[in-house]
Amino acid sequence: MTELYKKWFIDRQFERAELFLKLTEKYKINTVLYPGSFVHITPSFYIPTAYYVDSDRKAKKFFANKSEVVELINKRKNYEQEPELHFFGQDYFKPLDIKERSIDLLISQYAGPISQACKRYLKKGGNLLVNNSHADAGIAALDSDYKLVGAVKFSNRKYTISEDNLDEYFYPKKDKELSIKYLSELGKGVGYTKTASSYIFEKCC
Ligand SMILES: C[S@@+](CC[C@H](N)C(=O)[O-])C[C@H]1O[C@@H](n2cnc3c(N)ncnc32)[C@H](O)[C@@H]1O
Repeated sequence: MTELYKKWFIDRQFERAELFLKLTEKYKINTVLYPGSFVHITPSFYIPTAYYVDSDRKAKKFFANKSEVVELINKRKNYEQEPELHFFGQDYFKPLDIKERSIDLLISQYAGPISQACKRYLKKGGNLLVNNSHADAGIAALDSDYKLVGAVKFSNRKYTISEDNLDEYFYPKKDKELSIKYLSELGKGVGYTKTASSYIFEKCC
């Protein structure tokens, strides 16, 4: 079943492993919540405790074979302790059995308005890794609970996290008043004058 990880992420060169390495080098991250993860378990190679959430049938089957998934994580992990793996085969809008304000890193990649739906689980000072494919980066930029602290650049197959000129991001190309409600309903990102491949926010409260 870990074939599915190989097919979707290794064969397509889309593991994003270096990104998670860089994140864990820069921020103190021991726990991660990844709603809409599908079978993208790369964060577990760098972060010991992980909560994955996905309602997809194939994802449920993948995580049901927990020993095989843990075996793969053990082969690739970059930390000493045993990995702790949790999976919720459900809609991430519904309550998750996770303590509120307990998570160090919340991941939102290509899977909807996670910055809002799962914000309550992120601790104060915790980080949100978010891209704008479903407008979620733009949503987080409008949310005063989040502060932009980094921009992820991907070039020549290398990830870098930049803290330079962060105030230049999230200026819409079109002269349109944006709101969290508007972007959430739109469900796809609008154009901005300057963009990054992903963004890192810090939860301020
Ligand atoms: C395009 S895939 C992205 C997978 C992964 N985040 C990545 O970056 O490779 C989107 C995933 O989000 C899941 N998803 C979307 N909305 C969801 C929801 N409300 N609750 C649970 N899973 C959801 C889908 O089932 C799908 O597996």
